[in-house]
Order: sequence, then structure tokens, then C-alpha cells
Amino acid sequence: MAFTVHPPTHTRWLSDADIHASTDLTGKTALVTGATSGLGRSCAAALARRGARVMLGVRNVEAGARIAAAIEAETGCAPGTVTVGLPLDLASNESVRSFAKDVVGKCPRLDLLVNNAGVNFVPKAFTPEGVGVIAQVNFLGPAALTRALEAPILAAAAHAGVANVVHVSSVTHRYASIPSVARFLTQWDAGSYAATKLANVLFAYECHRRWGAQGVRSAAVDPGAIYSNLWDNDRVFSSPPMRAILGLTYAPPEDGVAAVVTASLAPFHEATKRKGGRDGDGDGDGDGDAATRLRFYARGLFASRLVAGCAPGLRDELNDGVAQSASWHLNYYAWGIATLAVSMLDWPVRACSRGRFAGRTAEVRSSPASYDEATACELWEKAGAAAGRVARGKEMLVG
Ligand SMILES: NC(=O)c1ccc[n+]([C@@H]2O[C@H](COP(=O)([O-])OP(=O)(O)OC[C@H]3O[C@@H](n4cnc5c(N)ncnc54)[C@H](OP(=O)(O)O)[C@@H]3O)[C@@H](O)[C@H]2O)c1
Repeated sequence: MAFTVHPPTHTRWLSDADIHASTDLTGKTALVTGATSGLGRSCAAALARRGARVMLGVRNVEAGARIAAAIEAETGCAPGTVTVGLPLDLASNESVRSFAKDVVGKCPRLDLLVNNAGVNFVPKAFTPEGVGVIAQVNFLGPAALTRALEAPILAAAAHAGVANVVHVSSVTHRYASIPSVARFLTQWDAGSYAATKLANVLFAYECHRRWGAQGVRSAAVDPGAIYSNLWDNDRVFSSPPMRAILGLTYAPPEDGVAAVVTASLAPFHEATKRKGGRDGDGDGDGDGDAATRLRFYARGLFASRLVAGCAPGLRDELNDGVAQSASWHLNYYAWGIATLAVSMLDWPVRACSRGRFAGRTAEVRSSPASYDEATACELWEKAGAAAGRVARGKEMLVG
């Protein structure tokens, strides 16, 4: 299959307030995973506020029901606007398939899927299929969910002209590489979290390439540095002094979610503008390339040239090298520390700047490794196998 990749050659700034306020999701259905806390909860509330019917994909359905009621109360939506289905445990393909089957039965059209749930710093463990839990929860489970929901997503796109699948990635994807998909799924090393976040971007792009012509948009988004439960499992990050530092320097989820919400709403916003007769793809830049342009969103310092422009050298070296070599570790930790420094500056800089960095999300170039078509195809096939869509031997889940 031949793909056309159009990475943005420039940074395109979008006004969060403009997109959020002018996009109406009334009559649309959205599914947000990992909605019990952090970004997922804030995203679900933001979408309900814009008029969407929102399903929460959560593993703890009691907690999910409490969150659904709280979101309805704080947004003033009608009871039953925010709902919880079967438990969704992304660590289990069986759970993903049961959850998706239930959604397909209840919901003929799914306009927006936000693959947000994710983990970091979890104890090393493997699924019965031999997949590392971090790769399973952060990549394979969400990707399998997307593939299992193909019918309602394509139906929504056919009905309304557009549907959207958003993958919450991270700045760490910029210093990751996936030299081998089998190794990525079955091995677990210091770079595994970053590799899962690169896999999210590769899958977003594959999704866009496979389904783009049918009206499905897919984007990956770097939310920035958020003070959430994500850090709870790490000894250093969860220590009282570090918690205090993160509390002061990392954005609260309500602020951090802005880029995720902008990525979620942008295609619907563009579709509304298109109906108004403006510009080829409705984004105001006159390029008319919505069906083929691949999107990666970031905010603040994470969208700056400093971050978005300087990872390629590292990626090449990692791709050519052995993941566990001393130079790999040196590079990996150097980039990790640099990222941590940017993370701690971003929210304070945005909070103070009010101008250049506040209230805007940018569409930026993602890491060059994101455009690796062969790896993207392979990840797509693995997700299909996990979703039960592909049973042929050569596309078995692992190996
Ligand atoms: N925080 C940051 O600075 C940051 C930066 C870059 C990217 N991100 C990404 O943003 C996303 C959301 O993270 P967050 O910061 O909002 O963290 P969070 O508050 O810890 O939220 C994570 C969510 O994922 C859910 N989850 C975990 N394991 C799951 C599983 N096996 N099945 C289903 N759901 C599961 C959690 O559910 P439970 O309540 O049941 O545990 C929770 O709702 C993640 O993908 C993360 O990688 C975060």
C-alpha cells in the first residue's frame, strides 16, 4: 500500500478558546478512556460541556459512575449524557474485545474516540500473550480498541463527513525508537514508556492513512507536563519533596487537557468552517489537505523549536544502535533530564506569559521516527490481531 505523508513544515498555532467555544458536539457521541482521573476526566467534562454524549471507558465502573454523575452535575448536562459501559481493562485483550462489542451494540455511530488511558512506572509484568503490560496498556489495548470500533467510527464519518480518533502521546516519543515491533511488545527496558508513546503516534498516522479517505481524522497529542496520578508509582516522583515541586511546576489537568481537547475538536471545527464555504479543508490556511495531512499537537514549550526541532539526531543513533548499550543509556537519560527541565519550566512560563505561549495549541512536526511506514503497518496488524479482526498465522500477536 502506498502512503502519502505530509508532515507540517511549519508550526501552526490554534486558539484553544476559539476552537473550544465555537465547536458544537450536540448529537455526537464520544468515548474517552482513562476517565477516572487526570486528563481523561477533564477531557470527558470538556466534551460534555460542548454537547456530546460521552461514554467513559474505565476499568473501575463504580468510580466511573461517580465521575459520570459529578461531570453531569458540574456541566449541567441532562442525566444520562455521561455513561459508563462494561469495565474496560486495557491490560486484557479479552476485556477490550468485550467492551468494544458492547459499545458497537449500543452505539451505531462513534464520532470521537479519545485514547487517553495510560500508565508509567508500573511493576514489570507480562500478559498471557507475552506482551509487556506497559506496551499493552499504553499501546496495544488502545490500538485494539480502535480497530474493534472500526464499524461505528466509519459509520459516524459516513454520516457526518468526519469522525476523529485521538491518541494521547507524550514528548518522550521524540527520543524513542522501535527498531523491532516484536521486541517492543515483548521486552521491557528503560525506554519502554517512551516507545509506547511513539507507537501511539505511529498508530495515529496509520489510522489516518487507512481511514482518512473515508472521513476519519486521527491525531496524536503531547499534553505537556501534568500533575496527575501518573507519577504515583515512582519512588522519586511520589516522594513528598518531589510531589511539592511537581505541584508547583506541573500544570493541573484542567489546564493540561487543553491540547487534548483541541486535538479532539479540531476536525469538527474545520468541518463547520468548510460548510461555511471557507478554504479547502476549513482550517484557514488554504492548503485543502485535510484528508492526507498528519497531525501532532502540542502546547507551550513542548511546541517550541527547542523541543519539536532537535530530536532527530538522537533517534537516528538509537535506531542504529542496541537499546541497552552504554551510549544508549547516556543519550536516553540526557534527553530525559532535558525533558524534565522543559517540563518544569513550561507551566510557569505559560502562566506568566499570557501572550505567545498561553491559550494556544500548535500543530507541530512529530519525531522523524513517527513516519516509519513499515513499523506503522506492522503495529496496525498487531492491533488487528489483538482486536480479533485478523486470525492468519503471519499476523499473530507476538513474534
Ligand atoms: N501526566 C503527564 O505529565 C503526562 C505527560 C505526557 C503524557 N501523558 C499521558 O496522558 C495520559 C493520561 O495520563 P494522566 O496524566 O491523566 O494520568 P492518570 O491520572 O494516572 O490517569 C490515567 C488513567 O488511565 C487509566 N488506566 C490505567 N491503567 C488502565 C488499564 N489497565 N485499563 C484501563 N484504564 C487504565 C487510569 O484508571 P484507574 O483510575 O483505574 O487507575 C486513569 O483513569 C496517559 O496516556 C499518559 O501517558 C501524561
